[in-house]
Amino acid sequence: MEAELQHLQTEARADLAALTDAPGLEAFRVKYLGRKGLCTTVMRSLGAVPDAERPRLGKLANDVRQDLEAAFAAREAELATSQAVSGAVRPDLTLPGRLSPFGKLHPVTQVMDEVCGIFAGLGFAVAEGPDVELDYYNFEALNIPPHHPARDMHDTFYISDSVLLRTHTSPMQVRAMQKAAPPLRMIAPGKVYRCDSDITHTPMFHQVEGFLVDRKVSFGDLKGVLSVFIAKMFDAKTPIRFRPSFFPFTEPSAEVDIGCVICKGVGCRVCKKTGWLEILGAGLIDPAVFKMVGYDPDAYTGFAFGLGMERIAMLKYGITDIRLFYENDLRFLAQF
Ligand code: PHE
Repeated sequence: MEAELQHLQTEARADLAALTDAPGLEAFRVKYLGRKGLCTTVMRSLGAVPDAERPRLGKLANDVRQDLEAAFAAREAELATSQAVSGAVRPDLTLPGRLSPFGKLHPVTQVMDEVCGIFAGLGFAVAEGPDVELDYYNFEALNIPPHHPARDMHDTFYISDSVLLRTHTSPMQVRAMQKAAPPLRMIAPGKVYRCDSDITHTPMFHQVEGFLVDRKVSFGDLKGVLSVFIAKMFDAKTPIRFRPSFFPFTEPSAEVDIGCVICKGVGCRVCKKTGWLEILGAGLIDPAVFKMVGYDPDAYTGFAFGLGMERIAMLKYGITDIRLFYENDLRFLAQF
């Protein structure tokens, strides 16, 4: 049996050296290393060997098999490189390339980029702030002390008594004013969070805050900037309406409506038959906020506004359920 093994090894190695192609390699594998190959046959015959001899011969048979397996792998690799070098296996350069699918920006990101682009064109600088915010910036410094009823409108996610997920981008007004002296002209885009979920609310959504502080800034300036923005974002002929409203950090305050882009003011389901759609909150910055950041309220005035991005994206694209934005269904997202 020992002689048989040696013979098998020599013969197999000679066969292997003579191989030149893939079919040859496969035939070799079947003949020597396959389930019914010669190596297996020899192993099987170990049963007939005397007990005393079996361990030694068994080891020998194993060594031969391992040696052949290693030699086979080496020959396989050698042939693969030499064929590639000699050009026997050559890539077909006439084949078209494999297309990988194109990614796209999320529709909300697209709208946010467009909004920021319009304000950047009007000379507004862009700043970003933290999503995890202090109660101080989100409420207190914006003239919303503890127990103020306006806190009720915000459905806040609290992390601790003094830390929360920001419910709006307005804290960026305070952060920016604390850092720099007026004049100031800025927008602050970003995510905001409210504990609310239905077809027009998601627990996370996006706002763009805008504010401008200088000497003699008037409500007319606010109206002018927002009119330019709306004309560029929607249509130059879009009607605009300012409705009196209340925010603790602006005085006077307004909510701004545009003529319904779906029914053009006739009245439909989206505008609840009013012909108008609310798109933002705005106002002149309350002197109390200026005092909080150390600006002189007698010397400076300013305006601020906050825009909901999902709302604008829904109006622009005629989307009726806000939750579609966050289901990550590519059939929806690929349309934008
Ligand atoms: N922060 C307000 C909101 O989220 C919007 C707003 C911003 C109103 C700036 C006035 C001035 O509802």
